[in-house]
Amino acid sequence: MGKGKKVAIIGAGNVGATVAYSLAMRGSCHQIVLRDRNIETAQGKALDMSQAANAARMHTVVTVAKEAKDIAGSDVVVITAGSPRKPGMSRDDLLLMNAEITKQVVGDVKKHCPDAIIVMVSNPLDVMTYVALKESGFPRERVIGMAGILDAARMAHFIYQKIGYGAGQIRASVMGGHGDDMVPLPKFSTVAGVPLTDVLTEEEIIDIVERTKHGGAEIVGLLKTGSAYYAPAKSTTVMVEAILQDTKQIHSCAVYLDGEYGYSDVVSGVPIALGANGIEKLFEVTLNMGQQRRFAKSVKSVKSMIDVLKAKNFFGDQQ
Ligand code: NAI
Ligand code: 2OP
Repeated sequence: MGKGKKVAIIGAGNVGATVAYSLAMRGSCHQIVLRDRNIETAQGKALDMSQAANAARMHTVVTVAKEAKDIAGSDVVVITAGSPRKPGMSRDDLLLMNAEITKQVVGDVKKHCPDAIIVMVSNPLDVMTYVALKESGFPRERVIGMAGILDAARMAHFIYQKIGYGAGQIRASVMGGHGDDMVPLPKFSTVAGVPLTDVLTEEEIIDIVERTKHGGAEIVGLLKTGSAYYAPAKSTTVMVEAILQDTKQIHSCAVYLDGEYGYSDVVSGVPIALGANGIEKLFEVTLNMGQQRRFAKSVKSVKSMIDVLKAKNFFGDQQ
C-alpha cells in the first residue's frame, strides 16, 4: 500500500491533523509531514500520531516541516491552512482571509514540490481551489478540491436517517460548489441500486436536499467553537488514497472547468476519476433542465467570489 509515498499536510488543525491520523492508521503512505504556523502544537501532534502508528503496527512516520523546504518530495499536498467557519459566519466571509493564506502556502508548494498533486480543503473551497490553481500554475489535473465526497456522505446519512435501513449502502450524489447553492442530486442517488425516488416521498427528499445544503452549518451550530472535521478529513483521505494507489475511483471533486458543462474559468464540483495523475477523466453527465438551472446558480455564486478577488487585483498579471 503506497510504498515510499510522502504526503504533506499544510494546516495541522482539526481537519489536517485528522487527515494525518486517518492516513497513518491505515498505513496509506510512508511519511506524513505536517506544516503549521504553530510549530510546537504540530510537533506534539506528529509525535502523538507516530506513536499511535506504532500501536497500530503501522509503518507511517509523522514529522513536522519546520521550514517550507521540508515538504519537498511530497507526492500529495493537502492544504487545510486557514480559519474555520465560526457560528454566524458564512463560508464567503472567509474569502479574503483564506485567499491570502492559500496564496502564501501554494507559493511554497510551487517552489518545493513542483510535481505534487494539490488537494485543496480550505474554504470557500471552490474559490480556494481556483486560487491554488492560478498561484501554482500547475495543470488543472493536479489541483483538486474536496467537497463533493463530504456533501454526498452527509446526504447519504440523512437518507439513512429517513429510511432507517441500508446504512453504508447508500450512494448519494452532489455536484456544484461547496456552498449554500450546492446541487444535491436525488435522481442520481440510490440505496444499493434502488432509486431514492422509490423509497422516499417528494417531501422527504426535499427535506434531505435542504439539510444537505446546510450540513456544515448544522455542525457549526452544535460544536460552536469550530466546524466539522471527522467527515471532512475522511473525505479528504479518500481522495489522497485514490491518488496514492491510483485507484481511478469516481468521485465528485472541485475542479477547474474549461468549457465542460458550458462553463470556463471557474471551479465547480463534478464527477472525475481520481488516480496517480490527479484528474484521470472528467465526466460530463447529462443534467435535466432543473439540475442545469441549479448548477448554473452554484457556478454563478463561485464566479462572483472569484470576481471579488479579481476586482481587488488579487491575481495580478494572471487575471
Ligand atoms: P483549524 O483552525 O482547526 O485549522 C487550521 C490550521 O491552519 C490551524 O492549525 C492554523 O494554525 C493553520 N494555519 C493558518 N494559517 C497558516 C499558514 N499560513 N501556514 C500554515 N498553517 C496555517 O481549522 P479546520 O477545522 O481544520 O479547517 C481548516 C479549513 O478547512 C477551514 O478553511 C475550513 O473552513 C475548511 N473546511 C473545508 C471543508 C470542505 O468541505 N472543503 C470541510 C471542513 C473544513
Ligand atoms: C463544512 O461543510 C465548514 O465547509 C465546512 O463542514
